[in-house]
Amino acid sequence: MDSEHNTSTPEDRSHVKALLAIGVIASAIGIALGLLIDWFPTQASEEGKQIDTLWDVLIICSVPVFVLVMTVVLYSVWRYRMKPGEEHKDGPPIHGNTRLEIIWTAIPAIILVALCSYAYVVLTQVEEADARALNVTVVGQQFTWTFYYKDSSGKTVSSPQLYVPRGRQVNFTVESDDVIHDFWVPAFRLKIDAVPGIRTHLRATPKTVGQYPVVCAELCGLGHAAMRQTAHVVEPADFDKWLRERAAGAAPGGAAPGGGAAPSGKQVFNDSGCGACHALADAGTTGGVGPDLDDVLADKDAAFIEQSIVDPNAVITPGFSANIMPPNFGQTLQPAELDAVVKYLDEVTGK
Ligand code: CUA
Repeated sequence: MDSEHNTSTPEDRSHVKALLAIGVIASAIGIALGLLIDWFPTQASEEGKQIDTLWDVLIICSVPVFVLVMTVVLYSVWRYRMKPGEEHKDGPPIHGNTRLEIIWTAIPAIILVALCSYAYVVLTQVEEADARALNVTVVGQQFTWTFYYKDSSGKTVSSPQLYVPRGRQVNFTVESDDVIHDFWVPAFRLKIDAVPGIRTHLRATPKTVGQYPVVCAELCGLGHAAMRQTAHVVEPADFDKWLRERAAGAAPGGAAPGGGAAPSGKQVFNDSGCGACHALADAGTTGGVGPDLDDVLADKDAAFIEQSIVDPNAVITPGFSANIMPPNFGQTLQPAELDAVVKYLDEVTGK
């Protein structure tokens, strides 16, 4: 009986000191690494600033917790491992330590409440509505996104590409036509589910002109990984011009705003997400949800191709089922885009 439990010996204290030293050094390295790693793509929204700061604070708070637990576990495994001849020995009986238990319950509780409060404040601030916000409706369907705007006369304007003006809040209303998708623009740092039957909302204020991926972040079927489009953040004047031209049927959804040039069929094919479901050698796409276009369109004329786009159920390729292709490309594509993509497909799949 050389040691009474709950009394610390000089040896115990040296262990605690060693643990503390290892923990402090490992935490410092961990925090430095966590802050140095470039976790995210370009920050293209005002909200992104607060969200990235929140992330950094979470790293600073969580790394020491992880390091503390791992240090104690690994140190104990190494220091108190069983040595030869100790197979039948039992450790000292321990009946708890009230003071320690209070401490290790109170500290995590304080950390959790503080971080939750901070995160709640950030969430409230990034969701704050601006009365001047631009309203954009986002509709997800297997396997493409379509964006709807209202022009100055109240007419609905659709686009397969997302255009938003820099410096103005955008209020996205998100819907789904079929299954659950998730509307995500990583550069904006925000995402929200697109759920059939309900409307969800997301606000973001684009701040950096450029092109950023729009991603589906909910496993929604075979074409999920390819359900990607582009968000174009443009100057407000360019946006107004684009919307005017788009409303007049002149601006291709994917071309640079103000271009006004006839859309290229290949661009329409890519911008509308056709490749998510269809393989087409010329466009380099390999989607397998719908028929391989090089295959099924080889001996077909332009009229057949157009019918297959605007009325996908008219002719179903053997081996595929009806209703897997969105039925509304006839409405969301502008006539010039439809013509261009039909002509393009006719050319590249012809024998
Ligand atoms: Cu839509 Cu994943």
